[in-house]
Amino acid sequence: MREPAWRTDFPVATGDERMVTRRQFSRFLLLTSLGMFVGNLWILVRSRFRRSAAYPELRVARVADVPVQGVKLFHYPGPDDPCLLIRTAEDTFVAYGQKCTHLSCAVLPKVAEGKLHCPCHEGWFAIDDGRVLQGPPPRPLPRVVLERRGEELFAVRIEGA
Ligand code: FES
Repeated sequence: MREPAWRTDFPVATGDERMVTRRQFSRFLLLTSLGMFVGNLWILVRSRFRRSAAYPELRVARVADVPVQGVKLFHYPGPDDPCLLIRTAEDTFVAYGQKCTHLSCAVLPKVAEGKLHCPCHEGWFAIDDGRVLQGPPPRPLPRVVLERRGEELFAVRIEGA
């Protein structure tokens, strides 16, 4: 059988056709990394906008219902999101998501000590601002932003989620 003319004009060994040069491989890695970076950026931007737009307002408690150093459990923004409302002083209320930022165990208020405690791995958070004081949690507790309207407290959004 006679070989086609193009094969004699452009002789390429079959084994070499699958060969990838370093430049081609580097280009592939660069394009793949760029694609992943853009994809992650897109997910981040979308999640930020969705969160800020989607928070409902929720009446959490009447001021008189929570004594000084008292705690009330509520769910915000959804029924599967437990949060703690804590009255740290006569006119000071703070609220945080109750899931630890380490592995999502429930944190427990230690109001007299000014801390929130995660018993799973001895994580501690400050009651004033939710910052990590000790242990493995990587981030502060998500803070529920409260608004006081007369004698009622409303949750309006979450910061740091
Ligand atoms: S889950 Fe809270 S410290 Fe690990």
